[in-house]
Amino acid sequence: MMKRLLIPTRLRLDLLRLNSVEAKTTAAPPPHVPVLCDTAIDYLRPVPGGTYFDMTFGAGGHTRRLLEKCPEAKVYALDRDPVAHQLAHELSESKEYKGRLIPLLGKFSDLPKLFKEHGLTKNSVDGMLFDFGCSSMQFDEAVRGFSISRDGPLDMRMDGGQSGGVTAAEVLAHVEEGDLVKILRTYGEEKAAKKIARGLIDARNALFKIETTRQLADIIENIMDGNARKDKLRRHAHSATKTFQAIRIFVNNELNEINYGMVLANEVLRRDGRLVTITFHSLEDTIVKRHINGNVLAGAANALPLKYSSYYAIDEPEMLESLTKKNWKQLHRHVIVPDAEEVARNTRSRSAKLRAAVKTN
Ligand SMILES: C[S@@+](CC[C@H](N)C(=O)[O-])C[C@H]1O[C@@H](n2cnc3c(N)ncnc32)[C@H](O)[C@@H]1O
Repeated sequence: MMKRLLIPTRLRLDLLRLNSVEAKTTAAPPPHVPVLCDTAIDYLRPVPGGTYFDMTFGAGGHTRRLLEKCPEAKVYALDRDPVAHQLAHELSESKEYKGRLIPLLGKFSDLPKLFKEHGLTKNSVDGMLFDFGCSSMQFDEAVRGFSISRDGPLDMRMDGGQSGGVTAAEVLAHVEEGDLVKILRTYGEEKAAKKIARGLIDARNALFKIETTRQLADIIENIMDGNARKDKLRRHAHSATKTFQAIRIFVNNELNEINYGMVLANEVLRRDGRLVTITFHSLEDTIVKRHINGNVLAGAANALPLKYSSYYAIDEPEMLESLTKKNWKQLHRHVIVPDAEEVARNTRSRSAKLRAAVKTN
Protein backbone atom coordinates (compact mmCIF):
# COMPACT_ATOMS: atom_id res chain seq x y z
CA MET A 1 0.00 0.00 0.00
CA MET A 2 1.27 3.49 -0.85
CA LYS A 3 2.25 5.63 2.11
CA ARG A 4 0.68 9.06 2.25
CA LEU A 5 3.17 11.89 2.21
CA LEU A 6 2.37 14.72 4.57
CA ILE A 7 2.81 17.95 2.68
CA PRO A 8 3.96 20.82 4.91
CA THR A 9 1.51 23.66 5.15
CA ARG A 10 3.87 26.29 3.74
CA LEU A 11 4.57 24.16 0.70
CA ARG A 12 0.86 23.48 0.19
CA LEU A 13 0.29 27.21 0.23
CA ASP A 14 3.10 27.72 -2.28
CA LEU A 15 1.61 25.12 -4.56
CA LEU A 16 -1.90 26.51 -4.25
CA ARG A 17 -0.66 30.05 -4.84
CA LEU A 18 1.24 28.88 -7.88
CA ASN A 19 -1.86 27.26 -9.20
CA SER A 20 -4.24 30.13 -8.64
CA VAL A 21 -5.05 33.01 -10.95
CA GLU A 22 -3.42 35.22 -8.33
CA ALA A 23 -0.05 33.62 -9.06
CA LYS A 24 0.01 35.40 -12.37
CA THR A 25 -0.62 38.80 -10.83
CA THR A 26 1.16 38.83 -7.44
CA ALA A 27 4.89 38.84 -6.83
CA ALA A 28 4.87 35.66 -4.73
CA PRO A 29 8.15 33.80 -5.37
CA PRO A 30 7.71 30.54 -7.25
CA PRO A 31 8.81 27.47 -5.26
CA HIS A 32 11.39 26.52 -7.88
CA VAL A 33 12.91 28.76 -10.53
CA PRO A 34 13.53 26.74 -13.70
CA VAL A 35 17.13 26.77 -14.88
CA LEU A 36 18.09 27.62 -18.49
CA CYS A 37 14.38 27.51 -19.24
CA ASP A 38 14.20 29.28 -22.62
CA THR A 39 17.37 27.62 -23.90
CA ALA A 40 16.08 24.18 -22.95
CA ILE A 41 12.76 24.70 -24.71
CA ASP A 42 14.42 26.28 -27.75
CA TYR A 43 16.57 23.18 -28.14
CA LEU A 44 13.60 20.89 -27.63
CA ARG A 45 11.93 22.76 -30.52
CA PRO A 46 8.37 21.58 -29.82
CA VAL A 47 6.07 21.14 -32.81
CA PRO A 48 2.24 21.08 -32.96
CA GLY A 49 0.95 17.57 -32.38
CA GLY A 50 4.31 16.51 -30.91
CA THR A 51 4.66 14.32 -27.82
CA TYR A 52 7.15 15.40 -25.16
CA PHE A 53 8.35 13.96 -21.88
CA ASP A 54 9.35 16.24 -19.02
CA MET A 55 11.10 13.55 -16.98
CA THR A 56 11.67 15.84 -13.98
CA PHE A 57 8.50 17.91 -13.62
CA GLY A 58 9.35 19.51 -10.22
CA ALA A 59 7.31 22.72 -10.08
CA GLY A 60 6.63 22.50 -13.79
CA GLY A 61 8.58 25.55 -14.99
CA HIS A 62 9.94 23.86 -18.11
CA THR A 63 6.64 22.15 -18.92
CA ARG A 64 4.71 25.42 -18.73
CA ARG A 65 7.22 27.16 -20.98
CA LEU A 66 7.01 24.33 -23.49
CA LEU A 67 3.23 24.49 -23.60
CA GLU A 68 3.31 28.29 -23.82
CA LYS A 69 5.62 28.07 -26.78
CA CYS A 70 3.69 25.31 -28.49
CA PRO A 71 0.08 25.07 -27.24
CA GLU A 72 -0.70 22.20 -29.62
CA ALA A 73 1.93 19.88 -28.08
CA LYS A 74 1.31 17.23 -25.45
CA VAL A 75 3.53 16.79 -22.38
CA TYR A 76 3.81 13.71 -20.20
CA ALA A 77 5.10 15.04 -16.88
CA LEU A 78 6.97 12.54 -14.73
CA ASP A 79 8.26 12.94 -11.19
CA ARG A 80 8.98 10.48 -8.42
CA ASP A 81 8.04 13.07 -5.80
CA PRO A 82 4.33 12.92 -4.84
CA VAL A 83 4.32 16.66 -4.04
CA ALA A 84 5.49 17.48 -7.57
CA HIS A 85 3.07 14.90 -8.97
CA GLN A 86 0.18 16.46 -7.10
CA LEU A 87 1.03 19.81 -8.64
CA ALA A 88 1.21 18.26 -12.11
CA HIS A 89 -2.12 16.56 -11.45
CA GLU A 90 -3.77 19.83 -10.37
CA LEU A 91 -2.42 21.63 -13.43
CA SER A 92 -3.61 18.85 -15.70
CA GLU A 93 -7.14 19.33 -14.38
CA SER A 94 -7.12 23.07 -15.01
CA LYS A 95 -8.86 24.54 -18.02
CA GLU A 96 -5.57 25.86 -19.36
CA TYR A 97 -3.76 22.52 -19.46
CA LYS A 98 -6.53 19.92 -19.79
CA GLY A 99 -5.70 17.29 -22.40
CA ARG A 100 -2.20 18.70 -22.96
CA LEU A 101 -0.53 17.68 -19.70
CA ILE A 102 -0.50 14.08 -18.50
CA PRO A 103 0.97 13.62 -15.01
CA LEU A 104 2.96 10.46 -14.28
CA LEU A 105 4.18 9.35 -10.87
CA GLY A 106 7.37 7.32 -10.81
CA LYS A 107 11.07 7.07 -11.46
CA PHE A 108 12.89 7.14 -14.79
CA SER A 109 13.25 3.39 -14.45
CA ASP A 110 9.45 3.02 -14.20
CA LEU A 111 9.07 4.38 -17.73
CA PRO A 112 8.73 1.01 -19.52
CA LYS A 113 5.81 0.14 -17.22
CA LEU A 114 4.24 3.60 -17.65
CA PHE A 115 4.62 3.33 -21.43
CA LYS A 116 2.61 0.11 -21.39
CA GLU A 117 -0.07 1.59 -19.14
CA HIS A 118 -0.52 4.56 -21.48
CA GLY A 119 -0.37 2.55 -24.69
CA LEU A 120 2.80 4.33 -25.88
CA THR A 121 5.32 2.72 -28.18
CA LYS A 122 9.08 2.88 -28.58
CA ASN A 123 10.64 5.29 -31.10
CA SER A 124 7.62 7.57 -30.95
CA VAL A 125 8.48 10.48 -28.66
CA ASP A 126 9.50 13.84 -30.17
CA GLY A 127 11.46 15.26 -27.28
CA MET A 128 12.62 14.49 -23.78
CA LEU A 129 13.86 16.83 -21.07
CA PHE A 130 15.80 15.86 -17.93
CA ASP A 131 16.55 18.56 -15.34
CA PHE A 132 18.41 16.39 -12.84
CA GLY A 133 18.85 16.62 -9.08
CA CYS A 134 16.54 18.00 -6.43
CA SER A 135 14.02 20.82 -6.69
CA SER A 136 14.17 23.88 -4.45
CA MET A 137 11.00 22.57 -2.77
CA GLN A 138 12.91 19.44 -1.76
CA PHE A 139 16.08 21.30 -0.69
CA ASP A 140 14.29 24.07 1.16
CA GLU A 141 11.73 22.09 3.14
CA ALA A 142 13.44 20.99 6.36
CA VAL A 143 11.00 18.12 6.74
CA ARG A 144 12.31 16.47 3.54
CA GLY A 145 15.71 16.07 5.21
CA PHE A 146 17.98 17.34 2.41
CA SER A 147 19.04 20.64 3.97
CA ILE A 148 22.31 21.33 5.75
CA SER A 149 21.09 24.65 7.06
CA ARG A 150 17.54 23.77 8.14
CA ASP A 151 17.14 21.11 10.80
CA GLY A 152 14.88 18.20 9.94
CA PRO A 153 14.63 14.41 10.01
CA LEU A 154 17.49 12.81 8.10
CA ASP A 155 15.33 11.42 5.29
CA MET A 156 16.46 12.53 1.78
CA ARG A 157 14.08 10.26 -0.15
CA MET A 158 12.87 12.17 -3.20
CA ASP A 159 9.70 10.10 -3.24
CA GLY A 160 9.04 10.75 0.44
CA GLY A 161 9.07 7.00 1.10
CA GLN A 162 6.27 6.11 -1.35
CA SER A 163 8.12 3.08 -2.60
CA GLY A 164 9.62 2.16 0.76
CA GLY A 165 13.33 2.72 0.40
CA VAL A 166 15.75 3.49 3.19
CA THR A 167 16.20 6.93 4.69
CA ALA A 168 19.58 8.61 5.07
CA ALA A 169 19.33 7.99 8.84
CA GLU A 170 18.81 4.27 8.22
CA VAL A 171 21.79 4.15 5.87
CA LEU A 172 23.99 5.75 8.54
CA ALA A 173 22.62 3.44 11.22
CA HIS A 174 23.51 0.25 9.36
CA VAL A 175 26.23 0.93 6.79
CA GLU A 176 29.65 -0.67 7.25
CA GLU A 177 32.60 1.65 7.42
CA GLY A 178 34.19 0.41 4.16
CA ASP A 179 30.94 0.89 2.28
CA LEU A 180 30.50 4.36 3.71
CA VAL A 181 33.98 5.30 2.47
CA LYS A 182 32.96 4.07 -1.01
CA ILE A 183 29.72 6.05 -0.94
CA LEU A 184 31.45 9.26 0.13
CA ARG A 185 34.23 8.86 -2.44
CA THR A 186 32.06 7.75 -5.34
CA TYR A 187 29.03 9.95 -4.93
CA GLY A 188 30.52 12.91 -3.05
CA GLU A 189 34.03 12.94 -4.53
CA GLU A 190 34.97 13.58 -0.91
CA LYS A 191 38.75 13.54 -0.40
CA ALA A 192 38.37 13.11 3.36
CA ALA A 193 36.06 10.09 2.88
CA LYS A 194 38.02 7.82 5.24
CA LYS A 195 38.25 10.37 8.00
CA ILE A 196 34.57 11.28 7.80
CA ALA A 197 33.42 7.65 7.60
CA ARG A 198 35.54 6.75 10.66
CA GLY A 199 34.17 9.73 12.57
CA LEU A 200 30.56 8.92 11.69
CA ILE A 201 30.94 5.29 12.75
CA ASP A 202 32.57 6.43 16.01
CA ALA A 203 29.71 8.83 16.63
CA ARG A 204 27.20 6.07 15.91
CA ASN A 205 28.93 3.58 18.23
CA ALA A 206 29.69 5.93 21.06
CA LEU A 207 26.84 8.31 21.11
CA PHE A 208 23.57 7.87 19.35
CA LYS A 209 21.71 7.21 16.16
CA ILE A 210 22.21 10.13 13.79
CA GLU A 211 18.65 11.21 13.14
CA THR A 212 18.59 14.84 12.05
CA THR A 213 20.28 16.92 9.38
CA ARG A 214 21.67 19.27 12.05
CA GLN A 215 23.27 16.37 13.94
CA LEU A 216 24.91 15.08 10.78
CA ALA A 217 26.18 18.53 9.76
CA ASP A 218 27.53 19.23 13.28
CA ILE A 219 29.27 15.86 13.60
CA ILE A 220 31.03 16.38 10.26
CA GLU A 221 32.02 19.90 11.20
CA ASN A 222 33.59 18.44 14.34
CA ILE A 223 35.34 15.67 12.43
CA MET A 224 36.78 18.28 10.05
CA ASP A 225 37.76 20.51 13.00
CA GLY A 226 35.55 23.28 11.66
CA ASN A 227 37.92 23.67 8.69
CA ALA A 228 36.21 25.89 6.16
CA ARG A 229 35.94 24.43 2.66
CA LYS A 230 35.94 26.15 -0.70
CA ASP A 231 33.95 24.85 -3.64
CA LYS A 232 35.23 24.78 -7.24
CA LEU A 233 34.39 28.47 -7.61
CA ARG A 234 36.35 29.26 -4.40
CA ARG A 235 33.20 30.06 -2.43
CA HIS A 236 32.84 29.05 1.20
CA ALA A 237 31.13 25.65 1.49
CA HIS A 238 30.01 23.73 4.57
CA SER A 239 32.34 20.85 5.41
CA ALA A 240 29.33 18.49 5.18
CA THR A 241 28.27 19.51 1.65
CA LYS A 242 29.89 16.58 -0.11
CA THR A 243 28.70 14.06 2.48
CA PHE A 244 25.12 15.29 2.09
CA GLN A 245 25.42 15.02 -1.71
CA ALA A 246 26.88 11.52 -1.47
CA ILE A 247 24.22 10.16 0.87
CA ARG A 248 21.42 11.79 -1.13
CA ILE A 249 22.67 10.24 -4.38
CA PHE A 250 22.97 6.85 -2.69
CA VAL A 251 19.52 6.98 -1.04
CA ASN A 252 17.86 7.83 -4.37
CA ASN A 253 20.11 5.67 -6.54
CA GLU A 254 20.47 8.79 -8.65
CA LEU A 255 23.35 7.93 -10.95
CA ASN A 256 21.92 4.59 -11.91
CA GLU A 257 18.62 6.30 -12.58
CA ILE A 258 20.35 8.83 -14.84
CA ASN A 259 22.25 6.13 -16.66
CA TYR A 260 19.08 4.14 -17.22
CA GLY A 261 17.21 7.32 -18.16
CA MET A 262 19.69 7.85 -21.01
CA VAL A 263 19.21 4.25 -22.15
CA LEU A 264 15.45 4.75 -22.17
CA ALA A 265 15.70 8.07 -24.04
CA ASN A 266 17.50 6.18 -26.78
CA GLU A 267 14.68 3.64 -26.84
CA VAL A 268 11.64 5.87 -26.80
CA LEU A 269 12.66 8.90 -28.88
CA ARG A 270 11.91 8.72 -32.57
CA ARG A 271 14.62 9.31 -35.11
CA ASP A 272 15.34 13.07 -35.13
CA GLY A 273 13.74 13.29 -31.69
CA ARG A 274 15.48 15.66 -29.29
CA LEU A 275 17.10 15.09 -25.92
CA VAL A 276 17.84 17.99 -23.56
CA THR A 277 19.59 17.48 -20.22
CA ILE A 278 20.50 19.87 -17.43
CA THR A 279 23.08 18.55 -14.96
CA PHE A 280 24.42 20.09 -11.75
CA HIS A 281 27.68 18.25 -11.10
CA SER A 282 30.29 16.36 -13.04
CA LEU A 283 29.07 12.90 -12.00
CA GLU A 284 25.76 13.59 -13.74
CA ASP A 285 27.29 15.32 -16.74
CA THR A 286 29.81 12.51 -17.32
CA ILE A 287 27.04 9.97 -17.71
CA VAL A 288 25.11 12.12 -20.20
CA LYS A 289 28.25 12.97 -22.17
CA ARG A 290 29.23 9.32 -22.47
CA HIS A 291 25.84 8.36 -23.85
CA ILE A 292 25.76 11.24 -26.33
CA ASN A 293 29.27 10.39 -27.51
CA GLY A 294 28.45 6.68 -27.86
CA ASN A 295 31.15 6.03 -25.32
CA VAL A 296 29.25 3.42 -23.31
CA LEU A 297 31.26 0.28 -23.88
CA ALA A 298 29.73 -3.19 -23.88
CA GLY A 299 28.89 -4.32 -20.40
CA ALA A 300 29.54 -0.99 -19.12
CA ALA A 301 26.74 0.89 -18.60
CA ASN A 302 28.06 -0.64 -15.39
CA ALA A 303 31.64 0.45 -15.69
CA LEU A 304 30.80 4.05 -14.99
CA PRO A 305 31.68 5.17 -11.48
CA LEU A 306 28.23 4.22 -10.38
CA LYS A 307 28.46 0.53 -10.10
CA TYR A 308 28.06 0.51 -6.39
CA SER A 309 24.33 0.09 -6.07
CA SER A 310 23.46 -0.72 -9.65
CA TYR A 311 20.45 -2.94 -9.87
CA TYR A 312 19.25 -2.27 -13.37
CA ALA A 313 20.46 -5.04 -15.57
CA ILE A 314 21.35 -3.47 -18.88
CA ASP A 315 22.46 -6.77 -20.25
CA GLU A 316 19.99 -7.58 -22.99
CA PRO A 317 22.27 -8.08 -26.03
CA GLU A 318 20.09 -5.83 -28.19
CA MET A 319 20.18 -2.99 -25.71
CA LEU A 320 23.92 -3.30 -25.17
CA GLU A 321 24.61 -3.36 -28.88
CA SER A 322 22.55 -0.26 -29.37
CA LEU A 323 24.41 1.55 -26.56
CA THR A 324 27.79 0.99 -28.14
CA LYS A 325 26.73 2.79 -31.32
CA LYS A 326 26.79 6.51 -31.77
CA ASN A 327 23.10 7.28 -31.57
CA TRP A 328 23.21 11.02 -30.98
CA LYS A 329 24.43 14.20 -32.57
CA GLN A 330 25.11 16.98 -30.07
CA LEU A 331 23.52 20.21 -31.26
CA HIS A 332 26.19 22.57 -29.96
CA ARG A 333 29.96 22.61 -29.74
CA HIS A 334 30.56 23.54 -26.11
CA VAL A 335 28.42 22.64 -23.16
CA ILE A 336 25.89 25.42 -22.42
CA VAL A 337 25.92 27.27 -19.10
CA PRO A 338 23.72 30.06 -17.72
CA ASP A 339 24.87 33.64 -18.26
CA ALA A 340 25.88 35.95 -15.41
CA GLU A 341 22.45 37.53 -15.26
CA GLU A 342 20.73 34.18 -14.69
CA VAL A 343 23.28 33.14 -12.05
CA ALA A 344 22.77 36.45 -10.23
CA ARG A 345 19.00 36.01 -10.38
CA ASN A 346 19.03 32.33 -9.42
CA THR A 347 22.15 31.13 -7.60
CA ARG A 348 20.96 27.54 -7.93
CA SER A 349 21.75 27.76 -11.63
CA ARG A 350 25.46 28.48 -11.09
CA SER A 351 26.67 24.92 -11.66
CA ALA A 352 24.16 24.00 -14.38
CA LYS A 353 25.27 22.54 -17.71
CA LEU A 354 22.89 21.96 -20.59
CA ARG A 355 23.39 19.45 -23.38
CA ALA A 356 21.07 18.97 -26.31
CA ALA A 357 21.25 16.21 -28.87
CA VAL A 358 19.23 14.78 -31.70
CA LYS A 359 18.74 11.04 -32.12
CA THR A 360 20.33 9.97 -35.35
CA ASN A 361 20.07 6.21 -35.26
C1 LIG B 1 15.59 20.12 -10.60
S1 LIG B 1 14.02 19.53 -10.27
C2 LIG B 1 13.15 19.86 -11.74
C3 LIG B 1 12.57 21.21 -11.80
C4 LIG B 1 11.66 21.47 -12.99
N1 LIG B 1 12.36 21.38 -14.24
C5 LIG B 1 10.96 22.81 -12.88
O1 LIG B 1 11.09 23.64 -13.80
O2 LIG B 1 10.28 23.04 -11.88
C6 LIG B 1 14.23 17.81 -10.39
C7 LIG B 1 12.99 16.99 -10.14
O3 LIG B 1 13.26 15.70 -10.68
C8 LIG B 1 12.75 14.72 -9.84
N2 LIG B 1 13.58 13.52 -10.06
C9 LIG B 1 14.90 13.37 -9.83
N3 LIG B 1 15.29 12.13 -10.15
C10 LIG B 1 14.20 11.48 -10.63
C11 LIG B 1 13.97 10.16 -11.14
N4 LIG B 1 14.94 9.26 -11.22
N5 LIG B 1 12.74 9.84 -11.56
C12 LIG B 1 11.72 10.77 -11.50
N6 LIG B 1 11.88 12.02 -11.00
C13 LIG B 1 13.11 12.37 -10.59
C14 LIG B 1 12.89 15.29 -8.45
O4 LIG B 1 11.94 14.70 -7.59
C15 LIG B 1 12.63 16.77 -8.69
O5 LIG B 1 11.28 17.10 -8.49
